[in-house]
Amino acid sequence: MPDTHVVILAAGKGTRMKSADPKVLHRVGELRLIEHVLRAADGLRPATTVVVVGHLADRVKAALQKRQGLRFALQDPQLGTGHALLQAEPHLAGASGTVVLLSGDVPLLRSDTLQELVRTHELRGAAATVLTAHVSGPHEYGRIVRENGRISAIVEHRDATPAQRAIDEINSGIYAFALEPLFAALKSIGSTNAQGEYYLPDLIGVYRAQGRPVETVVLEDSREILGVNSRKELAELSAILKTTKNDGLMASGVSIVDPATAWIGPDVVIGPDTVIHPNVYLEGRTRIGSSCEIHAGVRIVDSTIDDGVVINNYCVISESHVATGARVGPFAHIRPQSDIGEGAHVGNFTELKKTRLGRGSKANHLSYLGDAVIGEKVNVGAGTITCNYDGTHKHQTVIEDGAFIGSDSQLVAPVRVGKDAYVAAGSSIVEDVPAGALGIARGKQVNKSGWVEKKKKKSR
Ligand code: UD1
Ligand code: CA
Repeated sequence: MPDTHVVILAAGKGTRMKSADPKVLHRVGELRLIEHVLRAADGLRPATTVVVVGHLADRVKAALQKRQGLRFALQDPQLGTGHALLQAEPHLAGASGTVVLLSGDVPLLRSDTLQELVRTHELRGAAATVLTAHVSGPHEYGRIVRENGRISAIVEHRDATPAQRAIDEINSGIYAFALEPLFAALKSIGSTNAQGEYYLPDLIGVYRAQGRPVETVVLEDSREILGVNSRKELAELSAILKTTKNDGLMASGVSIVDPATAWIGPDVVIGPDTVIHPNVYLEGRTRIGSSCEIHAGVRIVDSTIDDGVVINNYCVISESHVATGARVGPFAHIRPQSDIGEGAHVGNFTELKKTRLGRGSKANHLSYLGDAVIGEKVNVGAGTITCNYDGTHKHQTVIEDGAFIGSDSQLVAPVRVGKDAYVAAGSSIVEDVPAGALGIARGKQVNKSGWVEKKKKKSR
């Protein structure tokens, strides 16, 4: 099998986005435009992947920093798509095989489609293979001109004759090229056209003149090659991706009450008989078990929710785990590295950070629990606060199994409340409470009898 190399064009300005950010960094659904394209390219297992950057190049590079093995070619100034591909030449010196050219702003393209493109290209021994589609409103696109059924040229809309403008088969801007003749031919392309640019599609005419074989692959679902040029298109493509994801989940047994407002990321996994209510956002590597209820307004990021869990309205959960049968919310904030045990309850206006709440424990009202290790069957009373931060360092609070923390207590860390111990309501606990003991740390109450009557007399 010949090597496959991928070149992604992402140097253009994207004027119609009206944005200070590079176009390819805008998000369609959860992922940036360029990330969608890179994912599609991954399916080809490319030997080389080159991203051609230009406008705001440093921003695009920085956003892709975490991706291993990417190469960047700088196109400055941006003189057209043909000129853009030429900038990748140094990265492909000495290589052989097939070059797949992608646009950084075409996010719905599937890996399967690209594999089919490469397969056809290599099978037919073509110099170039163009991915095309028939569309109803082809105005923005280059038209595929055929002679005796075979592609003879691609003509940009601005340069097309009225007869050519009537053609409904368009250039997707996605191609497979044989590497060997590519760069020499690219250098022969001129820029005498309506935009004064070096047009990559002109290569087709060059190859035809040289007698090299040019092929096409015609797409069935033309939506796959929709590009993003404006904010409106960004929203439209996001909606298409959302529908596809939600349809797949529903087919696998997940109930989605209002698919129009359930935003579920591409990598999220959900078990059957789970119900997703309106305005829910599920992101990243989130996994949700079966028979869960995720109520309206919830956002869950990079978290694992086991079976039979209820997340009540308006909770935010990130990088955490919720075990089987637990209940969370409404209005709870579960911050990273938290672990809510089996059957545990976290109630309204409770915040957890880096905290383990043991099996069957409850923190039902108005609490902040940070850097805490809480055992099983613990009752955390309303308004309990772990004072975990001394202004410089974070400290741990340990509450052992069966302990009872009275309402409105502060636990000043580092501190430990022993097994089955009690903390009296309103206490500021600064020392460990031994197992089985009652810790009480609050001012003693004094009642002054007749005080109100005396006060009234004085002010007369
Ligand atoms: C291009 C094709 C057109 C095709 C359409 C499909 C050309 C001349 N026309 O038109 O036939 O129907 O795509 O969407 O190729 N870019 C660079 N450097 C440049 C210019 C563009 O990197 O100098 C990048 C852009 O950032 C973008 C891609 O190339 O990712 C396509 O460029 P764009 O200007 O959008 O081309 P279209 O006019 O859409
Ligand atoms: Ca475009």
